[in-house]
Amino acid sequence: MGAEKPVVDFDQHGPRYAADWKGQLATLRGDCPVAWTEASGGFWVVTKYDDIVHIERNPQIFSCDNDLQNVRNGGQGIRIPRNPFRFNLNESDPPEHTALRKLEAPFFSVQALEKWMDLAREILDEQIDTIIEAGEADLIEDIAIPVPAQVTLRLVGVPKDEWRDYMDASLNAFLPTDHPDYPLAARMRIGKRCDELMAERRAKPTDDVISALVHAQIDGQALEHDIAKGMLQSLLFGGFDTTAATSANALHWLSDHPEMHQRLMEDDAYLSKAVDEFLRYFSPVVGGLARTVVQDTELRGQQLKKGDRVLLMFNSGNYDEERFECPAQLDVERRNAKQHLAFGAGPHRCLGAVLGAAEVGIIVRGVLKRLPDYQVDHDREERFPSMGMTNGWLTMPIRFTPGKKLGAA
Ligand code: HEM
Repeated sequence: MGAEKPVVDFDQHGPRYAADWKGQLATLRGDCPVAWTEASGGFWVVTKYDDIVHIERNPQIFSCDNDLQNVRNGGQGIRIPRNPFRFNLNESDPPEHTALRKLEAPFFSVQALEKWMDLAREILDEQIDTIIEAGEADLIEDIAIPVPAQVTLRLVGVPKDEWRDYMDASLNAFLPTDHPDYPLAARMRIGKRCDELMAERRAKPTDDVISALVHAQIDGQALEHDIAKGMLQSLLFGGFDTTAATSANALHWLSDHPEMHQRLMEDDAYLSKAVDEFLRYFSPVVGGLARTVVQDTELRGQQLKKGDRVLLMFNSGNYDEERFECPAQLDVERRNAKQHLAFGAGPHRCLGAVLGAAEVGIIVRGVLKRLPDYQVDHDREERFPSMGMTNGWLTMPIRFTPGKKLGAA
């Protein structure tokens, strides 16, 4: 007879987790680092840094596949509850994943990044121009979302002035996909829009990801439409709520730490270290990402069986005392902040990691420079009610001394 599973009461979509994810995960790391919960049909919760990295590096045991027709390995994808559609890059395993990732990699080269960073600065200035004379704004809707959203749309090939549609589709995406408020209709609309844009680029290619994917071949075969579409959707939705959440959390914290502002504005190395620590400390993908066990295996003495689901808590890895000293402290000088797991690890490590981190730095520095005395109105700020996906904010009102638009006399 197999050993009993160590059952805990854990639901990443529930209010208890949203209220105290740090406390709950610290208890799990201490008492039961590989624990079983009956939530959402049952899954293992993995909370130690080294175990998360081990799982990420062994896709032949822990699959990302979302095998909706049950024709490959029965993998159930990266979200719990399961996605009813497939995010094709994230939800594939090597060698398929390796070939797909190569198709998008050129858009994240050092040369390409320069272009996206210039664009991010330009969009940030435009966004600040829309609010600077008013002396008040919503940091989320006016800055943290529109900047990464528009950069991502441009990179993918969607007209960037459509960003609000994508914001609507990503705002309630922290909910389980079977929740009545999950933005399924908005996601479907965006799916249709992807079909239209793909048809346009098939006829008339440009320099964007859509064009690259609709004309891509793997081993002499054209990439299937649904795979290309899944990849586009994963880019569209992976690229901005995470960056927005990190920027917003950083600026929220910096609103109460004005002593850091000057150095962050002037010292590039200091800014870059601070961004690493913000990523560790605020851990945007706070709801974790899942894998499916496709070969029986053992982890810290627990027997994981083929078909079991596993949730990797990157935010818990980022607070693992065995990896980070005094993890509950935000320390911009932290020696090893760069080892954080905010971008995951292994073959699926975030493709947009360098871009995402650069955007956070650009947003932080731009706000400190142009709205130097901004203050968050803590009485009206509102976090996401669930931390099932992103450590984000619904609204973060700010006030500041009004200034002039760029170029204004
Ligand atoms: C602060 C910002 C960001 C954070 C915290 C973040 C986090 C993540 C995480 C945790 C993963 C999964 C890694 C894994 O399974 O090991 C991921 C994958 C991915 N991210 Fe990001 N991301 C960010 C920004 C971006 C941006 C700006 C883009 C593109 C515009 C992007 C594109 C992707 C893609 C394409 C994948 C799938 C990679 C693969 O499966 O091979 N991300 N990201």
